[in-house]
Amino acid sequence: MYLLELGGEDDAFAACEAASAATGLKRVAPGLAVARGMVPDRVRGLAYTHAASELIGRGGADPESARSILEAAAIDRAGSVAVRATDVHGSTGVDTRLVERELGNLLVDRGFSVDLEEPDHVLRAVFSAGRLPDDEADTTTDGEADTTATGYEPDTAATDREPDVTAAAGPRGETVSVCALGWLAVESVRDFGRRKPTDRPFFQPGSMEPLLARAVANLAGARPGRTVLDPMCGTGGVLLEAGLVGADVLGVDAQAKMVAGARENLALLPDGESAVGVPAGDPSVVRGDATRLPFVDGAADGVVFDAPYGRQSKIERHDLADLVGGALAEAGRIATRAVLVADRTWVGPAREAGWTLEALFERRVHRSLTRYVHVLS
Ligand SMILES: C[S@@+](CC[C@H](N)C(=O)[O-])C[C@H]1O[C@@H](n2cnc3c(N)ncnc32)[C@H](O)[C@@H]1O
Repeated sequence: MYLLELGGEDDAFAACEAASAATGLKRVAPGLAVARGMVPDRVRGLAYTHAASELIGRGGADPESARSILEAAAIDRAGSVAVRATDVHGSTGVDTRLVERELGNLLVDRGFSVDLEEPDHVLRAVFSAGRLPDDEADTTTDGEADTTATGYEPDTAATDREPDVTAAAGPRGETVSVCALGWLAVESVRDFGRRKPTDRPFFQPGSMEPLLARAVANLAGARPGRTVLDPMCGTGGVLLEAGLVGADVLGVDAQAKMVAGARENLALLPDGESAVGVPAGDPSVVRGDATRLPFVDGAADGVVFDAPYGRQSKIERHDLADLVGGALAEAGRIATRAVLVADRTWVGPAREAGWTLEALFERRVHRSLTRYVHVLS
């Protein structure tokens, strides 16, 4: 079992993204999930998961539980160690320094040396208390309660193991208080701040920030060997993130200046291995109409697009409803999975285009912009 430390404000969204890298995912406390299997290269590329650790054990959110878990653990490793404790959102009030000292002492008693700079092993002790929300189902706005943000089926192809746990949610509405101990296995690469849209060769207002772009790319299934298409690629922000986790990327935009700009930005993809440890994917961007794509059926594995916000994007030839509806239908011809980001919900048109809504997330950007992320299959 693995312990996943989730990031950001929305655990349901983080868990949904993490399901692209792990199987048998279950949220166990605010900011914390457990998983039965995980793929290290994919965890390294997650936006809203910070780390995965080999789970040692779980107990109540207090230092005594942490000590008991460690005392009872069979430890099949040796060398130097550092203990790193976290109190998620300051929710438990546990003195993490004290916990680090006490657990460190226990490990020294068991033959480890302490090395805080370059340890052979890192022991994570994570404390979290709070309520596991039961209200994510309400993010759909068309009155249909059958699809919830937590009803997402994890990607069963993430590992070879059996997909016997299906929901990225934990118990509903339960108040929990958890301490979980694990040996750090892999951390995600936190280099998003180095790719600010304003620092790229081509920038336009409305460019998606890299953190969300990476998450939606992952939700669309980006990884080595897969092709991800953005039929309204704008500056290419989503494609850049998809390429950095190894997917081959196809971009389309109606505006010639966006096509030229996206090509320039995608030239930033490294020739060799990207920071997440896989070779960067191959990019290709063409001018076209998202409702009549110049690709054969099944040309991509996943489609992801950020529909125009009216104010910010030039809509060529169509009104917005025709554009989104037409693009959703084309996406269904091209791929079996899609992620639609928009400033409103498009659940009805998505269903009319033949998609099943796996999850819908609401992400507030600022006072006048909320983005809705539709995960479709
Ligand atoms: C919200 S922007 C995409 C922003 C992009 N995600 C980014 O990070 O830069 C929407 C894009 O849709 C494009 N667009 C509008 N109508 C289109 C159409 N019919 N076919 C393809 N692209 C279209 C616009 O030119 C614009 O670049």
